[in-house]
Amino acid sequence: TSPITILDIHRKYRKGKKLSMITAYDYSSARSSDNAGIDMILVGDSVGMVVMGHTTTVPVSLRDIIHHSRAVRRGTKRAYIIGDLPFGTFLSVDDAIHNAASLIQHGRCDAVKLEGGRKMVNQIKAIVDSGIPVCGHIGLTPQTASALGGYRVQGKTASAALALYQDALALQEAGCVMIVMECVPSTVASYITSRLNIPTIGIGAGSGTSGQVQVFHDMVGLFDKFTPKFSKRYAEVGKLIESVVSEYRTEVEEKVFPAESHSFSMKDDQYRNFLE
Ligand code: KIV
Ligand code: NA
Repeated sequence: TSPITILDIHRKYRKGKKLSMITAYDYSSARSSDNAGIDMILVGDSVGMVVMGHTTTVPVSLRDIIHHSRAVRRGTKRAYIIGDLPFGTFLSVDDAIHNAASLIQHGRCDAVKLEGGRKMVNQIKAIVDSGIPVCGHIGLTPQTASALGGYRVQGKTASAALALYQDALALQEAGCVMIVMECVPSTVASYITSRLNIPTIGIGAGSGTSGQVQVFHDMVGLFDKFTPKFSKRYAEVGKLIESVVSEYRTEVEEKVFPAESHSFSMKDDQYRNFLE
């Protein structure tokens, strides 16, 4: 199985097949996702919340994403890897090109993602012109949640929905290879999807988008601060890990662990010589 390219993704999209994307931030979660046959891995700045313990994605740096995406690359054989450009790393066109190039060159990503609509077309065009595929991100954009008045559904009024549609068209026109839509009414997401000729990847955008993305830690039950309405908790891995570690602690205290099978021996005569 050879690595998935952007052509494979667009081919699957044109066939009307749904695209799957999940976040991953390290070797083992990337490996699990890749083995599970996921199409795309997003090294999201959600790493700041679910791995680093920050309350927002704002503190995440380019170095953080590069550090994590290098690990993701080592755990990935097939999936297409997209790296998030963090808050403040694409304010100017120059910054955008330079930092996107770093995510590709040092972070070993296949593409970059950046948040924002029409206002970002200059940055997006410049990155695309430098030969780097760009994934857009509209609707709820967590990096600017403060300006949006919190983590809330976007595009709920007729005028807001129209603005979202215009943003999507502008991103497509600017050369984005796909667009993430976060927290928008399903009807609006479906409409926009039907009007575009690039895939939309939804999170909290209903089932009418071209694909879905979920945050790994939310899905497996590894993040306990809150579960967003748009994420489905398929397992309680955090609880499982807690019980495993607790069992280990008990076995250490009760001298059940380690057993002989976990231990090393030496020849008796060698040990006798050692004691002399
Ligand atoms: O950082 C992230 O996990 C994301 C997805 C929610 C799209 O941007
Ligand atoms: Na993100």
